[in-house]
Amino acid sequence: MERVSWQPLALLLLAAAAAVASGTEVGYDGRSMVIDGERRLLISGSIHYPRSTPEMWPDLIRKAKEGGLDAIETYVFWNGHEPRRRQYNFEGSYDIVRFFKEVQDAGMYAILRIGPYICGEWNYGGLPAWLRDISGMQFRMHNNPFEQEMETFTTLIVDKLKEAKMFAGQGGPIILSQIENEYGNVMDKLNNDESASEYIHWCAAMANKQNVGVPWIMCQQDQDVPPNVINTCNGFYCHDWFPKRTDIPKIWTENWTGWFKAWDKPDFHRSAEDIAFSVAMFFQTRGSLQNYYMYHGGTNFGRTSGGPYITTSYDYDAPLDEYGKIRQPKYGHLKDLHNVLKSMEKILLHGDYKDTTMGNTNVMVTKYTLDNSSACFISNKFDDKEVNVTLDDGATHVVPAWSVSILPDCKTVAYNSAKIKTQTSVMVKRPGVETVTDGLAWSWMPENLHPFMTDEKGNFRKNELLEQIATSGDQSDYLWYRTSLEHKGESNYKLHVNTTGHELYAFVNGKLVGRHYAPNGGFVFQMETPVKLHSGKNYISLLSATIGLKNYGALFEMMPAGIVGGPVKLVDTVTNTTAYDLSNSSWSYKAGLAGEYRETHLDKAKDRSQWRGGTIPVHRPFTWYKATFEAPTGEEPVVADLLGLGKGVVWVNGNNLGRYWPSYVAADMDGCRRCDYRGTFMADGDGQKCLTGCNEPSQRFYHVPRSFLKAGEPNTMVLFEEAGGDPTRASASRAASAARTRAASASPRQRWRRSRAACVGKESCTVRHTEDFRAGSGCDSGVLTVQATC
Ligand code: GAL
Repeated sequence: MERVSWQPLALLLLAAAAAVASGTEVGYDGRSMVIDGERRLLISGSIHYPRSTPEMWPDLIRKAKEGGLDAIETYVFWNGHEPRRRQYNFEGSYDIVRFFKEVQDAGMYAILRIGPYICGEWNYGGLPAWLRDISGMQFRMHNNPFEQEMETFTTLIVDKLKEAKMFAGQGGPIILSQIENEYGNVMDKLNNDESASEYIHWCAAMANKQNVGVPWIMCQQDQDVPPNVINTCNGFYCHDWFPKRTDIPKIWTENWTGWFKAWDKPDFHRSAEDIAFSVAMFFQTRGSLQNYYMYHGGTNFGRTSGGPYITTSYDYDAPLDEYGKIRQPKYGHLKDLHNVLKSMEKILLHGDYKDTTMGNTNVMVTKYTLDNSSACFISNKFDDKEVNVTLDDGATHVVPAWSVSILPDCKTVAYNSAKIKTQTSVMVKRPGVETVTDGLAWSWMPENLHPFMTDEKGNFRKNELLEQIATSGDQSDYLWYRTSLEHKGESNYKLHVNTTGHELYAFVNGKLVGRHYAPNGGFVFQMETPVKLHSGKNYISLLSATIGLKNYGALFEMMPAGIVGGPVKLVDTVTNTTAYDLSNSSWSYKAGLAGEYRETHLDKAKDRSQWRGGTIPVHRPFTWYKATFEAPTGEEPVVADLLGLGKGVVWVNGNNLGRYWPSYVAADMDGCRRCDYRGTFMADGDGQKCLTGCNEPSQRFYHVPRSFLKAGEPNTMVLFEEAGGDPTRASASRAASAARTRAASASPRQRWRRSRAACVGKESCTVRHTEDFRAGSGCDSGVLTVQATC
């Protein structure tokens, strides 16, 4: 017996030793991550694998590497991988192992953020809706049902990655893993503090039990930090943040490179100057690992966007745009910064350091010294004035407002965060040249509403108005609620519906009488619409739609959707009293649309005869449209321009591109009128700036990844138009970019136009900065900006 068990053990030990020998050892100390015994300064960027396609991954990763990144970070998307309990999906853009292998092949490190609660503007923060069906389930708290499911999924992912040898100790790229996400932001807002604390400690213990061989991190977990994890910072700036423990490095897991977009909001832009400022300040103040959230934002395909109201585009104003193209000057300006920081890796992570404020806390010099060399940072946090700073050697340096100068030898400024030396590129759609699919030939088919307007059976009946997520299991955006009532004579009423959103269509006796949605991404709203009842049986049919489930906040999962509880009433228009309260009538339910059951989007042969040609109805709600088109030539990404359409879903060759809603006009906000990189950038309030697309359709262009298209044969676009729109204006185009060269920093207050004439048509030119030039334009900042467009 003994001999039999000894031999395999010896073999196992040998195998393990071989794995360790070929692997990378990852540890940390108070200064940085320590990889194979060396402290490392690391720059990372988030690329979420399901927000692009496997065909795009190598190019995105290569561009990230060329942009000076060492690591790629991604969340893991639980509800994408386990859409139904114990039914898994690791195919296509959910092939997580393939993604990490691409990172490895590129010679980069990876950071694995399992969560599995991930926030991320992702539907339900990544948690599968079926969790709610498990009895006793309380999300993100200390209770067996949740912890068991979380552990089962975490272990599944870890085992999968171990099997593929993806962890650093196995020779793979993963050097860090994360458990939970920003729990510190919500834990004191939960009802049961003790349970919250027990839960987060359980998370750390469960994670450590996984034996992944690399450290575990928790982001935004400043209080009650479990002992065996590294807590990290998220935000637009993390220079003022330091971990309380001195034996762990200062890590920034999310430096937001822009912001996400919602259907009711314009586009956010965070300037390259401000991001560079924040990164430089972070490394000035002992930072050692920084991750851009997002480096490539990508697309919320299908029903993956969170919210409610997160758009299908998750462009994020990231250094790589939604289509994977390089966004300048952000990409180049940050690349230049990475090069400089890398050249200082040794001194920053091993040197002694001294911070000296220069007369004012807004101005700080940090000097790192090691052996006989030194490196300096000079930061100026004033948002309205440049400063002159004299260093030890007597040399004076002018540091522009809201910027950091980096002097790798404390003598020469190698980089200033406000001075851009790189090109600007702007994504353009050149009409006529790039648009190759104008004038598509459309056919159409009505959505079959009939079953929900009559006595045909729904899925089941109940004498109450049910919550939508629980009822539909989030397998569709749509849930039908239908009831009927007997009435004598003809009468006019007001139909009153109280709903927790997100969108509602009301029909009486088969006629659409009203549509409403929660304004500004809210939830609860009331619909009041005039209706006419006839003598006899009357049908009230209500279609409730979700637009991405909430992904953030304490107890976000408790936020209901749909007409839960109502009331639904018919109100007398004269007396304003309730004539019929239908809230506890017999309601018949059906989740999903007839077309969803038939899979109309797949354009199956058996349905072909259903498509109608001839005159295409426009502005007709609940209509399916189909067109075939030839793919634009080349390898460039393709965009579908859906201007003219209302709200719905779009597919190309059966691939769901996401919800569309170009009829939603983005709000006009204060930030639409100010744009100055100087001063704190925020996603709300006074920090909002440089917004674009104000008062315009909030998302008009939809990404059609190349791999969804077939060259040389017809491609099919199917639209489900729910609100009514005009498909005949839609087109597909190549996305192209044009380059503009920006020769100096962005203007704080003035755009100088008079230099234009002197420079047009020349490769170089001289612009004289004279006093009258300044006075003439009423500028008092003393900063001259020249912008050259090629
Ligand atoms: C963070 C969160 C991310 C993402 C981000 C905003 O708080 O951790 O998942 O939601 O905000 O884009």
